[in-house]
Amino acid sequence: MFAFSSVVYSNPYNNRMDEFIDNLMSKMTLEEKIGQLNLPASGEIITGQAKSSNVAERICKGQVGGLLNLKGVERIRDLQKLAVEESRLGIPLLFGMDVIHGYETIFPIPLGLSCTWNMEAIEQSARIAAIEASADGICWTFSPMVDVCRDARWGRISEGNGEDPYLGSEIARAMVRGYQGDAMKRNDEIMACVKHFALYGGAEAGRDYNSVDMSRQRMFNDYMPPYKAAVEAGAGSMMAAFNDVDGIPATGNKWLMTDLLRKDWGFDGFVVSDYTGITEMVDHGMGDVQDVAALSVNAGVDMDMVSDAFMTTLVRSVEEGKVSEETIDTACRRILEAKYKLGLFEDPYKYCDLKRPAKQIFCDKHRKIARKIAAESFVLLKNEGNILPLQKKGTVAVIGPLANTKANMPGTWSVAAVAENIPTLVEGMRFALGDKVDIITAKGSNLMSDAAYEERATMFGRSLNRDSRTDQQLLNEALEVAAKADVIVAAIGESSEMSGECSSRSELDIPDTQRTLLEALLKTGKPVVLTLFTGRPLVLNWEHKNVPAILNVWFGGSETGSAIADVLFGDVNPSGKLTTTFPQAVGQLPLFYAHKNTGRPLGEGRWFEKFRSNYIDVSNDPLYPFGYGLSYTTFEYGDVILNTKSMSMDGEITATVNIKNAGNYDGYEVVQLYIKDLIASVTRPVKELKGFKKIFIKAGETKTISFKISPEMLKFYNFNIDYVVEVGDFDVMIGPNSRDVKSARFTLR
Ligand code: BGC
Repeated sequence: MFAFSSVVYSNPYNNRMDEFIDNLMSKMTLEEKIGQLNLPASGEIITGQAKSSNVAERICKGQVGGLLNLKGVERIRDLQKLAVEESRLGIPLLFGMDVIHGYETIFPIPLGLSCTWNMEAIEQSARIAAIEASADGICWTFSPMVDVCRDARWGRISEGNGEDPYLGSEIARAMVRGYQGDAMKRNDEIMACVKHFALYGGAEAGRDYNSVDMSRQRMFNDYMPPYKAAVEAGAGSMMAAFNDVDGIPATGNKWLMTDLLRKDWGFDGFVVSDYTGITEMVDHGMGDVQDVAALSVNAGVDMDMVSDAFMTTLVRSVEEGKVSEETIDTACRRILEAKYKLGLFEDPYKYCDLKRPAKQIFCDKHRKIARKIAAESFVLLKNEGNILPLQKKGTVAVIGPLANTKANMPGTWSVAAVAENIPTLVEGMRFALGDKVDIITAKGSNLMSDAAYEERATMFGRSLNRDSRTDQQLLNEALEVAAKADVIVAAIGESSEMSGECSSRSELDIPDTQRTLLEALLKTGKPVVLTLFTGRPLVLNWEHKNVPAILNVWFGGSETGSAIADVLFGDVNPSGKLTTTFPQAVGQLPLFYAHKNTGRPLGEGRWFEKFRSNYIDVSNDPLYPFGYGLSYTTFEYGDVILNTKSMSMDGEITATVNIKNAGNYDGYEVVQLYIKDLIASVTRPVKELKGFKKIFIKAGETKTISFKISPEMLKFYNFNIDYVVEVGDFDVMIGPNSRDVKSARFTLR
């Protein structure tokens, strides 16, 4: 027997889910059903005083389906107790949080994580995030974020997996597996929420929340695949995007939420709006609060995050016939099903084991794994004269505004991170290197001089660590420190607030104060290594021209400092490859490798020719292409060999290439397979990623790598949005990045 407050259910787990929920719903009033659709702001809740919090009353009245971004297992347990013991039907709550790239053990920002091209590592990062979050009472994460983005101006490019739909789909699947594990049966497996459905990364001009207007072909070929992959992987929930899609905000878009998501893709979880996404449709011009709430639930959005629009209007809309009771029932059922799948009806305290946090959160085991994964996410952009790796001896000056800050290490959306536990770059390096290297340090400059940024950062409750000393004083100190060093490591770039939500930028240079510092450090004549912190591709023409070595470290998470030491001093040979194109100029954006040819294409590597599709002031090339990243060794690719030049519709081709590690270091290489469909019924990209393998090759060794190519891999959405494969010629390209490929041709008959 199992009892909730006054209601007694006969052992629900002997019944099937449907029967259990039918039974429960037969006891629910319309108001209680609408209550389940409500995810209000948690407000300030102090542990032990949950009963007197502002949401407590609503929980007791059955007006709350779940809460978000509350940290602390005791607090969560107290609130769950209220729901279970003091609401009429005792329905447990969902506790959701933005556990985006780790909980307290923080992994690299998702964009960095994607640059590992290592699906096991990515899955493991999600698994550890789930273990830690669930130990602290969380059963639902607002992740993975799978929005494809091709415009570095958009601050949220940092939260996604870059520009490619194929890689994005692989990552989406890995993340869902990592969070949900074995169908959320265990108490350390949590429900994923795929976001932001859909196309949020396609915001016009990279401005956050902006309109998205794209052809169905681009939508289905380039932007939809990762969401679909996450659905196929069994994700339990989806989050609606803020933007409009084809003229209707996603949050009120029935074609998106019902026809595509449920009918075509077979999604059977629930959909939550984004934060106030429902009432924001008033500003989109879709009606008043009652109108937009009705629009949303009728479209297929089941839960209202923070708007309170469902709570305040849906009863009236049912009375007025604007929303049917059946629609409310459907939404309510989906949320109850999620709770059932999570096992909360069997044990509402499944995620409230007070003994777990001390053992499982930010533990050594997790931190070691985070350090390894962080090192794998770094991308070596330049290494002139093999200045890296550095030798473990002498004096190294670590200089820059990112050298001694804890708050800026984890990166955007690290809701649960405890900044004071996170080593600074210098602390992490000292920990990793012990007394082998003398590390001296100076700040050198403020992060930026623009007061607007400071205002913004303060608004978000974070500090930019602004110094009371003048720019000149900071610089003088840095030069004194630099004078004592054998090598300078410049720790500069964006602060963590400069990317992420609502952090779009119209210029993508390194902030002026830091550029001045870098120039001064280079003038010392000492070797300078730039460790670049960033949440997005930056425009690095000047740095590329002037700085001998550049290691892009994104925001590497809680173990950033040690991981940087591991790579700079050669314990780890860098293997990260870019999953997003670095432009030469903001004016080139959006810029991505899988573009189409025009009728007047500019020859590759050409600067300017009249009447070609180009700019008069910059070539069409990126500074660093998709897939690019150096190693301390060099890999030599042989020719692409196909086992046959002709493939039938039920056939298969094997493409093979020999890769030699021609340098002095063992290393990992991400071997990339691209395909081009030469002639089709619609224009097709110049190449598309269709496979990759991350392989280890010892110095001097040669490995033979093969990819199987099947007609299924050649499919695309045609003009009528049918998913088809068309006969004809295809180029198979294999290489270390999207630019430097070798190719062979076959015919599909
Ligand atoms: C973001 C979501 C996030 C939500 C809850 C919104 O502002 O767009 O990605 O999950 O807030 O914190």
